[in-house]
Amino acid sequence: MSYKFIDLFAGIGGFRTGFENNGCNCVFSSEIDEHAREMYKANYNEETSKDITQIDEKKIPNHDILLAGFPCQPFSIAGDKKGFNDTRGTLFFDIERILKEKKPKAIILENVKHFKSHDSGNTLKVILNALENIGYTTSWKILNAKDFGVPQNRERTIIVGSLNGIKFDFNKIEIKQSSFIKDILEDDNGQIEYLNEDEYTLIESPKRQPSGLIFVGYRNKNIRIKGTRENTNHLSRVHKQPNRIYSSDGTHPTLSSGESAGRYFVYHNERVRKLTLKECYRLMGFQDDFKLIGSKAKLYNRIGNSIVVPMVEEIASQVKEQILSKTDKIIKCKKPMKQMSLFDFSIYNEVG
Ligand SMILES: C[S@@+](CC[C@H](N)C(=O)[O-])C[C@H]1O[C@@H](n2cnc3c(N)ncnc32)[C@H](O)[C@@H]1O
Repeated sequence: MSYKFIDLFAGIGGFRTGFENNGCNCVFSSEIDEHAREMYKANYNEETSKDITQIDEKKIPNHDILLAGFPCQPFSIAGDKKGFNDTRGTLFFDIERILKEKKPKAIILENVKHFKSHDSGNTLKVILNALENIGYTTSWKILNAKDFGVPQNRERTIIVGSLNGIKFDFNKIEIKQSSFIKDILEDDNGQIEYLNEDEYTLIESPKRQPSGLIFVGYRNKNIRIKGTRENTNHLSRVHKQPNRIYSSDGTHPTLSSGESAGRYFVYHNERVRKLTLKECYRLMGFQDDFKLIGSKAKLYNRIGNSIVVPMVEEIASQVKEQILSKTDKIIKCKKPMKQMSLFDFSIYNEVG
């Protein structure tokens, strides 16, 4: 069965690609950034709607799944007794009004790892509370891109909600074998930017961290002085992120939406080189035929903002299996009671 979804805060369509690869159809998308909209048009041949705050929820087509990787904003609770449930003035409010009007069977929300502790945990609490008030049963977990066959240590908070009372079970999500940076590197086509040997320092005895990262050295730039002890240059944390160098035998740190110069350096075949744009898009699970248009700086920003496609594919497959297919059974069961067999009742019990 083909399910319909809407793609809110669509970016370059990471959510969309993952759901389309699971046979689902996009019926509406919204994105405010001009460059992201151009890329979306180039890749999906579709104009997105613009600012979601200006879109009447009644005009959004009916859909089965709502997808949103929305920006994280605090909810003000000061001086307002009802404030704890008040989401007005935030972009989550727009998700909430669409859910109230359209009641899709499933929702998937994505945010940064620290979302769970944002505003001392209030933000997550308010959102789960708001979703439950509309009728959604929710569950959430921090998922890491590196567990989905992509060599990037990128942790994200994922919230899944269902309208049919089923609590999504994250333990059923299939974890894949890790891969390494060297698996996604392009062949040297003469376009690779290498550092000269006097531009960096390699440390002695690098170690693989639990995250899979192997910090091997740093660019010879200023280190953090404040609170730093002497002889700590072998520690990654004294070097700013754009100066750190990681081995291609490990995973890569999180690509950042704020990095427009593409300062991602890897040690590979005894040389230090910058990742190419294509390699950054591979690190998020996009295929090489994904069209990259516009300035390099904007393309780096876009990819740092995206969701990792293979992670979405696995979530999509589980949401179909755990929530949507069971919802279909309930709907099929909604026939006059006298026509129901014992089998129908057992399905009710199974999913209820
Ligand atoms: C974290 S990114 C989501 C990226 C997306 N999941 C992807 O795979 O590329 C959030 C997006 O929300 C967009 N955005 C922010 N405010 C918006 C608004 N009022 N209406 C529509 N989009 C908005 C931003 O431009 C940004 O692209």
